[in-house]
Amino acid sequence: MRYAKILGTGSYLPAKRLSNDDLAQTVDTSDEWITTRTGIKFRHIAADNEKTSDLAAAAARAALETAGVAAEEIDLVIVATATPDMQFPATATIVQQKLGITNGCPAFDVQAVCAGFMYAIQTANAYIKSGMAQKALVIGAETFSRIIDWTDRNTCVLFGDGAGAVVLGASDEAGIIHGKLQADGNYLDLLNTPGQIANGQICGSPYLHMDGQGVFKFAVKMLAKVADEVILEAGLTTEQIDWIIPHQANRRIIESTAKHLGLGMDKVVLTVQDHGNTSAASIPLALDHGIRNGQIQRGQTLLLEGIGGGFAWGAVLVRY
Ligand code: UT7
Repeated sequence: MRYAKILGTGSYLPAKRLSNDDLAQTVDTSDEWITTRTGIKFRHIAADNEKTSDLAAAAARAALETAGVAAEEIDLVIVATATPDMQFPATATIVQQKLGITNGCPAFDVQAVCAGFMYAIQTANAYIKSGMAQKALVIGAETFSRIIDWTDRNTCVLFGDGAGAVVLGASDEAGIIHGKLQADGNYLDLLNTPGQIANGQICGSPYLHMDGQGVFKFAVKMLAKVADEVILEAGLTTEQIDWIIPHQANRRIIESTAKHLGLGMDKVVLTVQDHGNTSAASIPLALDHGIRNGQIQRGQTLLLEGIGGGFAWGAVLVRY
């Protein structure tokens, strides 16, 4: 059996760190409100000269180094992002160029917002399993600070910038065990950034809009369902899950999924307090964090799960 195995991970956070108290100086909010409702304490903000591709390339370099893989060995680059450098080309090709990959391998972006990394890793898994790729670089990278209305307290306290990356390699040992992706476009009004470039102008709002409670309810329901399904379909039980690596949007949503699965918070890699919601970057950032701080060990079984605008969501089971 051919699997896609995680050979190495990396991440990058911009230097600027914004606390809840910092935010309370500019909008009508408080550390107490943000902490109680979301669990967030800090978020990182990209410098003016840092683009999504810079964050992505930095995370990718760290992942390549841990994997012991040279950039030239990579034969697939996928970047999950909702905040690309440009309308086109894909941020993945810019990252490919920044990493000095000149072998002509395919490079493309995946747009599934906060579920983007789930979509990207499942796509790379299919490439590797089918023999279309040997070593893939899968990155989640975002500069959400650029699509946030910093005067809107309903949204500006929630998001941050960052990037996480994984090097996957073909292996006869697991590997990605099973995954499931889902989407329902009927819920597109719950969360979106509607603006688009047309006729030389930005048409529609360039800022993120969200029905917070609507998103909360939908996320809790769908994450529980997809987690149940992916575990059942893989022939596993929840007791066999060593770590949940959830999308880090809100501590209460994460707690709800863990509780539903009958797993304690000691089985969850939690970074939301330090990173806020970094959209497609949040799962690989948490994964890298959990590996580097010694929580996640080789041979353990991980449940990655995330949901975001679209609505799009998914879960992936990995034997690390
Ligand atoms: O990747 C997916 C992305 N998004 C999410 O996962 C978000 C999911 N939703 C949530 O996390 C929560 O719905 C929020 C954290 C966004 C909001 O929490 P909530 O408990 O649903 O609060 P709410 O929207 O019902 O607002 C309650 C009150 C309102 O005031 P009134 O109308 O009761 O007077 C808001 O105006 O809290 C107020 N409020 C704030 N107060 C202080 C909203 N934002 C803030 C704020 N600081 N930053």
